Amino acid sequence: MPGPSTTERLRVRDPNDIVTARRAARELCAQLGFGNADQTRLATAVSELTRNVIQYAGEGRCQIEDVSDAHSLGVRVTVEDQGPGIPDIERALRDGYSTSGGLGAGLPGTRRLVDHFEISSRPGLTQVIITLTRRR
Ligand SMILES: Nc1ncnc2c1ncn2[C@@H]1O[C@H](COP(=O)(O)OP(=O)(O)O)[C@@H](O)[C@H]1O
Ligand SMILES: [Mg+2]
Repeated sequence: MPGPSTTERLRVRDPNDIVTARRAARELCAQLGFGNADQTRLATAVSELTRNVIQYAGEGRCQIEDVSDAHSLGVRVTVEDQGPGIPDIERALRDGYSTSGGLGAGLPGTRRLVDHFEISSRPGLTQVIITLTRRR
């Protein structure tokens, strides 16, 4: 029988919180039985998204959940902020697009790393939901 499912809710406000969120994502992945490459995928995705929160919104939240069931391992991460929002999401998802002189690889890279990627944004609420799933 699976154990009680886990949800972690973390505040994202300063660079240390990126490290904490990244580590929490990796640890939950490991605990659920994901391999090392998947742990690294999720940790990298979580760093990019939480970095964006700090850089573009100042602060926000990161929720990390076990969504495993009898057939599959699953971990879902929701990263959200109440900042200015992303006016053109399609453009923000393009490789190399950055409003801060960055690499512009965070969102498109994150999308490629995970199995499910959902983004919604308006002024006052930007939310990115990512999921990694593997068959047991
Ligand atoms: N949480 C956010 N709030 C507002 N704008 C964002 C957020 N995350 C990303 N963006 C916008 O999307 C662009 C692309 O993000 P990303 O792919 O991470 O590249 P980078 O951070 O290197 O610019 C950013 O330059 C920024 O304009
Ligand atoms: Mg970024």
